[in-house]
Parts: sequence; structure tokens; C-alpha cells
Amino acid sequence: MPDFLRLADDIAREAGDMLLAKRPTMSEEVETKSSPTDVVTTLDKASEELIRERILAARPGDRILGEEGGEEPGESDVRWIVDPIDGTVNFLYGLPDWAVSIAVEVNGRIVAGAVNVPARGEVYTAALGEGAWLGAQPLRCNTGVPLAQALVSTGFGYSAVRRAVQGQVVAAVLPRVRDIRRGGSCAVDMCSLAAGRVDAYYERGVNQWDFAAAGLVATESGARLGGLHGRPVSPEFALCAAPGLYEELHDLLAGLNPERDA
Ligand code: IPD
Ligand code: CA
Ligand code: CA
Repeated sequence: MPDFLRLADDIAREAGDMLLAKRPTMSEEVETKSSPTDVVTTLDKASEELIRERILAARPGDRILGEEGGEEPGESDVRWIVDPIDGTVNFLYGLPDWAVSIAVEVNGRIVAGAVNVPARGEVYTAALGEGAWLGAQPLRCNTGVPLAQALVSTGFGYSAVRRAVQGQVVAAVLPRVRDIRRGGSCAVDMCSLAAGRVDAYYERGVNQWDFAAAGLVATESGARLGGLHGRPVSPEFALCAAPGLYEELHDLLAGLNPERDA
């Protein structure tokens, strides 16, 4: 395992163990962020603090972008991109699909990623050009699946206005595919795609900390990851599937103009 990946993997495991041990009940006090349904728990913050401490202890000069703590400026070419809990709502409700996501970016390219899904006992890892794994098992995404038979996962943002559009889009996609899944964690969704548990994933409004690590897991499993109209993946739009299905789903989505907000 390359050094960056080993460190990301170790830290994601340690944070996941901490979160499993301290997992809250619904009575835990939560704060809200962008909307009343966008929550952050004390454990989101504790997880990010632990991750930052461990990264800086091992690699003092590196930059870190974390969902809860933002980004501190720095000179290093190396940037760690962290979601301390992806799927906080699942975490709060006792559902298993939440993850600790840690990616390593060097000169703007993601080179390593670890996604720990503690409640499932699964750790997904990937290294650029070397592959993707679930534990020790190499991952290949499903290929050759036509749109009409594709199991497609997606997600919805926290803003009510955006959700109204996302509802229209998914209503138009649903009759054209095998079925839709809404798992509640972008990182788990993309790792599930790498493991062949879904065929495609799309979502508007996910951030770098959501898809940095899992996006590498997906592309190293053979999937294509991007935005609409040839643009790279970004908070504007994320689309992921094996080549072939990617283009079919792209064309369906592009025709629905899913990047509008009203
Ligand atoms: C959220 C999850 C969810 C996605 C949202 C994300 P959070 O992240 O990834 O699946 O639909 O867009 O914001 O808030 O649980 O870290
Ligand atoms: Ca997230
Ligand atoms: Ca989060």
C-alpha cells in the first residue's frame, strides 16, 4: 500500500472506531448548518479534529480541507480532503450508511482515498493508477448495463428549493431505469458503485469532501466520473457509471436541465 494511502486508511479506521464507540442516540444535541435538515453533531467535529491531529502529526506541512473546519492556507503541494462523517443523518438515525472519507491530493490530483463505513465493517481504498479495494478484495464496477436495466443511486441537497428540482429530475429518470436508490451518503454511494451494488450514481450539489476519496475508488474500479457536457465533476454536478451507461445517463440527465435551481 503506498504511504499516503496507508496513512489515510489508518486515520479513517481510527476515526471510524471512535465514532462507532460514541455513536449517539437521537436525543443528542445537534446544530443545524445551511437548513433545518442540515445537521452537525459534536461527533462530526470530534472526528474532524482527530483526523486533523493525526495528519499533522505525520505530515506537519500539509494542507487540509475539512467539511467542518474549512481550509487553512499553506504552501504544500499536498492537500488532504476530509469529510469526518458523510451521511450524518444516517449516523443520527442509526442507519449503517455513513462513512469517514479521507482523500490525498497532490498538485491538484487525487492520488489516494480511504472511505471507512464502520457500521458495515467495510473500508474502501484506492490509489491512482493502482486500483481500488474493499478490504483486500480488488473492485470492478458493473459494465455492459443498459440504462433501462440500471440501478441508479442519487441524493438530494439540504435546500428545499433545490430539492424541488431534484424531485422533478428523479421523477423523469425513474421510469427509464431499473430503479432508484437514495442511500444517504455520497461516499458510500460511489463505493457501492465500485463494488457493483449499484450501476450508476448522480447528484447535484455534492462537495469535494463528499466525492474526493470515493470518486477515486469508483474510477479505479473502472467507472467514469464527471459533470455534465464534458465538464469535470464538481458541486455543480456529479455523474458516475461505467463507460456506455455513463453516456446514456448523461444524455437523459442533460435533457432535464438538472443544474437549475428553480
Ligand atoms: C451529505 C450526504 C448525502 C448527500 C448530501 C451530502 P453530509 O453529506 O453525502 O448523501 O445527498 O448532498 O451533503 O451532510 O451527511 O456530510
Ligand atoms: Ca458529506
Ligand atoms: Ca459531513
